[in-house]
Amino acid sequence: ETVAAMRTLRRGWAGHGTGQASGRVALVPTMGALHAGHMALVAEARRRADRVVASIFVNPTQFGDPRDLETYPRTLDADRAMLEEAGVDALFLPPVAEMYPEGDETVVETVRLSGLFHGAVRPGHFRGVATVVCKLLNIVQPDVALFGEKDYQQLAVIRRMVRDLHLPVEIVGVPTLREADGLAMSSRNVRLDPEAREAALVLSRALDRAEALAAEGATVERMAEAIRATVAEEPRATLKGLDIVDAERFTPVVRHLTRRAGIMLSAEVGGVLLIDQREVGPE
Ligand code: PAJ
Repeated sequence: ETVAAMRTLRRGWAGHGTGQASGRVALVPTMGALHAGHMALVAEARRRADRVVASIFVNPTQFGDPRDLETYPRTLDADRAMLEEAGVDALFLPPVAEMYPEGDETVVETVRLSGLFHGAVRPGHFRGVATVVCKLLNIVQPDVALFGEKDYQQLAVIRRMVRDLHLPVEIVGVPTLREADGLAMSSRNVRLDPEAREAALVLSRALDRAEALAAEGATVERMAEAIRATVAEEPRATLKGLDIVDAERFTPVVRHLTRRAGIMLSAEVGGVLLIDQREVGPE
């Protein structure tokens, strides 16, 4: 639970600082309420490192709405059991005052990217994410850290921060794990009532349509129209954000896809904000 205890444990593991395969340490940062999507990150971490640290920290600085923070699902006993079952070596579970000691005033921000796309609808969110992930990387000092592609812009923010600040860690993105019917797994899904759960399928359905259009060489505008129309067919869903960006540069794409692009979609379904993402276009 403390930075000091985490550091002591980390130093005790063989191969610290050598970067050799024998002593590689992986970090999987989470906010808990773990599901199979998180466990896919843990499984990939196991494949890439000898020691796996998972962290659970519901980071207050990345929540805009205090009610969203208060009602964020917390299932610590079940989380602990899942991590133990998966053979995680350590769980870092810091209290808020440990991560943000009194008088804390330092932030990390990817100043362009944090204000765009999802960041434009959630001011301060990506600054909170970058700041807490930077802290976690400094505390655990992993050789590799794993993040889901579902949070597409988050992954881009973290890659950029690591590059810009020369942080000595490899960032690995893991494909989105889905329910059998296509809904991206998310801690927020438990808040969906049965009708909203059904309606939530509109996100992956809209992305399927856009992907099919991309394969036919349709314009970006045409893909965006199809997504808007699909979401509009579902009365319980409200489109919140739709951005189609260059996968490398994270700049908006217009007209034709000449390179790989990411479609980022967010919608409110039955009062729950859901996001999904798909990469399309030529490899
Ligand atoms: P959280 O939402 O708990 O997600 C933790 C990690 O699990 C993130 O990297 C996220 O992209 C990944 N993840 C979530 N659902 C997934 C799915 N269906 N398939 C694959 N991976 C999935 O994202 C955060 O927490 C926080 O912002 C954090 C990075 C921990 C910083 O506070």
